[in-house]
Amino acid sequence: MNKLNFKNTTVLITGASSGIGKEFATQLANKGANLILIARTQSDLTKLEEELECQCTDIWIKTIATDLTRPNSSRNLVAQINGLGLSVDYLINNAGFGRFCEFSEECFEIYHNMLMLNINALVELTHLCLPRMRAKNTGGIINVASIGSFQPLPYQAVYGASKAFVLSFSEALTGELMDTNVHVMALCPGTTESRFMEKANADTSKMRLAPACDVVNSALVAYEANRMYTVSGTMNYLMSLIPRFVSRKRTVKIVANMFKPKT
Ligand SMILES: NC(=O)c1ccc[n+]([C@@H]2O[C@H](COP(=O)([O-])OP(=O)(O)OC[C@H]3O[C@@H](n4cnc5c(N)ncnc54)[C@H](OP(=O)(O)O)[C@@H]3O)[C@@H](O)[C@H]2O)c1
Repeated sequence: MNKLNFKNTTVLITGASSGIGKEFATQLANKGANLILIARTQSDLTKLEEELECQCTDIWIKTIATDLTRPNSSRNLVAQINGLGLSVDYLINNAGFGRFCEFSEECFEIYHNMLMLNINALVELTHLCLPRMRAKNTGGIINVASIGSFQPLPYQAVYGASKAFVLSFSEALTGELMDTNVHVMALCPGTTESRFMEKANADTSKMRLAPACDVVNSALVAYEANRMYTVSGTMNYLMSLIPRFVSRKRTVKIVANMFKPKT
């Protein structure tokens, strides 16, 4: 494995306008990476682009506003990037959302969009970007999963299942890429400061939220260390081990008790 150097590489970040994605953009810009930033809200992307271009004068930034829940959006996005004569060295599949609620109380359209964003867009962008990385035998992908990837999440049932998918999918790709210099890692954050909880209708009064800069900083350290997955924070890491020592039913009961009051 070559020593990782983001300078002059092109990094595509989904969900780049806020929270964890915005922090990836900031830290990678400061490492000299050129950025393609994706979210739905163009004004947020433009604001970030202007901030980063002031901080880091030796990089370029492109912003593309697109809704990744829409059919063909990933394909159109990569066609647009190719049309600009660009190719993606690193892909950060970060855009995602969840909902805190009893499963049957949310309308199906929300679940449909959640699955389109958290799973379909992530898989399709990986499918579109990975062949070029393999051909060049360099680069890679960080898929943002969750601490919730390790066990079912009552009161976030679809979200938790989508994040279990992301971890499983990422680790499977690692198995296929063992003999290459292309590196896939799943990032499993715990509760983090961002717009996520507000959009998820979660009660955060008793939650401890990690700063997004710490989550991303530790993720990039783990990625450089060639880790297959990383859980941000020691307490979160210990919690991710609980399903290894407790029965599945007991685990589900613990998580249900944890999240019922937060919906
Ligand atoms: N925060 C946490 O506690 C936490 C914990 C574990 C895992 N995660 C994961 O971390 C990732 C980032 O979340 P965050 O916490 O940083 O949340 P956030 O602050 O809500 O950021 C979400 C980002 O995704 C973009 N986005 C949302 N829907 C989109 C769509 N349909 N198409 C394109 N972009 C879209 C948003 O911008 P627009 O609204 O403008 O599109 C924003 O840039 C997610 O995958 C989440 O599941 C978060």
